[in-house]
Amino acid sequence: MAIDLRSDTVTKPSPAMRQAIATAEVGDDVFLEDPTVIRLEEHTAELLGTEAALFVPSGHMANQLGLRVLGRAGDSVIAHASSHIFEYESGAPSAVSGLAPRFIDTPDGTFAAADVADLLQPRNIHHSRNRIVVIENTHNRCGGVVWPQDQYENVCVFCRDHELSVHLDGARLWNVCAATGTPPSRWASQVESVTVCFSKGLGAPVGSALAGSRAFIDDARFFRKMLGGQMRQVGIIAAGALYALEHNRERLVEDHANAQLFTKLVNEAPGLSCIWPDTNIVVIDVLDHTILAQQIVDDLIAEGVLVLSMGERKIRAVTHLDVSADQCRQAGEIVQRVMQQLVN
Ligand SMILES: Cc1ncc(COP(=O)(O)O)c(C=O)c1O
Repeated sequence: MAIDLRSDTVTKPSPAMRQAIATAEVGDDVFLEDPTVIRLEEHTAELLGTEAALFVPSGHMANQLGLRVLGRAGDSVIAHASSHIFEYESGAPSAVSGLAPRFIDTPDGTFAAADVADLLQPRNIHHSRNRIVVIENTHNRCGGVVWPQDQYENVCVFCRDHELSVHLDGARLWNVCAATGTPPSRWASQVESVTVCFSKGLGAPVGSALAGSRAFIDDARFFRKMLGGQMRQVGIIAAGALYALEHNRERLVEDHANAQLFTKLVNEAPGLSCIWPDTNIVVIDVLDHTILAQQIVDDLIAEGVLVLSMGERKIRAVTHLDVSADQCRQAGEIVQRVMQQLVN
């Protein structure tokens, strides 16, 4: 069987999760009558220390609802140049909310208050209004990087002082908490709007949440309906998310250890190098410029290791609850073998 390291979204529900799904109590969530959704939203808000949370089909929708509530057409949104909201969300900040992007580019996906300050525009008739800053933690494309707590808090304080709203794309905030031992509320308390996902490291088949103040979530519920994201007896899928939240947060440290095990082996392979991962995402740099990333990916697929290329010189591998330490070791050894063949 293939060792699938393409993403932590590829996991399949376990028998116990399927049991929770099969026996979920349900009701019509558009009438606010689905007890499982209510429990999931309350539990999520409790963990994040926010007044409320809203269950949504995807992290993409949670992010875009956050931006839609916080900004008006023509406002600016400052984000990292390779942030998920701009790289992988189909142009939605502009299409759905009419927001004007302003980018900060750094190698690791984190930035400082001074970087935000550099992009602020004077308040006059010429410029878009400075409105939203997006922080992605962990940062996906930069390799599952965890923001240093001080740096994160400095940026948030700066934003508060300058009347900027902060949206936290915490699709993998659970990984941040597992890696640092900090509670999710510590990160969420600094910002207006938070996305968290249940369908990544936590292993639920579907679902994410947006969290914030009661008034913020009331607005988000309105825009979710506007976009057709309201769902009926959705406790069927919320049950998987609730099971994931209750059972799979603590074990994320195993995924991080497996990512490190894999990294150690990849770093011994000729022609490749990767930075030590903070969490479960490993970005592999192809040092030998005579070989394209896709060629390596194709050879690995032929050997039963599934990974993704990110452009011509980078490959991404992600550990998750459906790959064991043994499989990660095996995958690392296969990478070594494939590279020895390609380099010679
Ligand atoms: C940082 C980040 N934000 C948002 C998302 C979007 O989540 P979804 O695939 O549920 O739309 C992803 C997906 O990988 C992500 O990595």
